[in-house]
Amino acid sequence: MRKGHLGIIGMTESGKSTLAHSIASGYMEEGIGTIVLEPRASIKWPCSLQTDDPLEFLDIAKRSRSCALFAEESGRFGRDPAFSWLFTESRQEGHVFHYISQYHAQVPPIARTNCLRLALFLVGQRSAKEWAEDFGQPEIATLNARMPPFGFVSANRRNDPPPKVKKLKL
Ligand SMILES: Nc1ncnc2c1ncn2[C@@H]1O[C@H](COP(=O)(O)OP(=O)(O)OP(=O)(O)O)[C@@H](O)[C@H]1O
Ligand SMILES: [Mg+2]
Repeated sequence: MRKGHLGIIGMTESGKSTLAHSIASGYMEEGIGTIVLEPRASIKWPCSLQTDDPLEFLDIAKRSRSCALFAEESGRFGRDPAFSWLFTESRQEGHVFHYISQYHAQVPPIARTNCLRLALFLVGQRSAKEWAEDFGQPEIATLNARMPPFGFVSANRRNDPPPKVKKLKL
């Protein structure tokens, strides 16, 4: 399993959910437990368990070990202190949390500081600069400014490998 919580961030229709589903599908193929919080029950993820109830998601995650956790539209609950466990202690239980969110204003500082990896789709330059600053990698903002359709900047805090534009082939 990839190490470190992943922030999947970008404007609407940029491709966040498509990437997240593809990553979840990879975990399932590897036989890794995949737990998903999806507010829209009509959308089916490739996963072991899916719920639209944030408290149930948290409860199941707390009773599980070494799973991939995905929270769709995390901005809805990400500022609730009860959920800070996902960013902090969940890694001690072997979980990797995938935080999916649109607007910069929705991303709480706890998410920005605890995501070791970033998939940054097109966002405004102010937002891109804040992520770039947070990761100490100015290229994140430079690359974001000339993002191709459905492209995203893949980055990690160790800068190894350095930020790179990627695009999922459908
Ligand atoms: N790599 C890609 N290549 C071609 N089309 C893509 C790609 N990624 C996503 N799309 C298409 O773009 C549309 C939006 O994608 P998606 O739902 O993943 O965006 P999103 O960022 O999750 O949007 P929202 O914030 O509104 O949930 C979908 O119709 C999807 O099929
Ligand atoms: Mg989406």
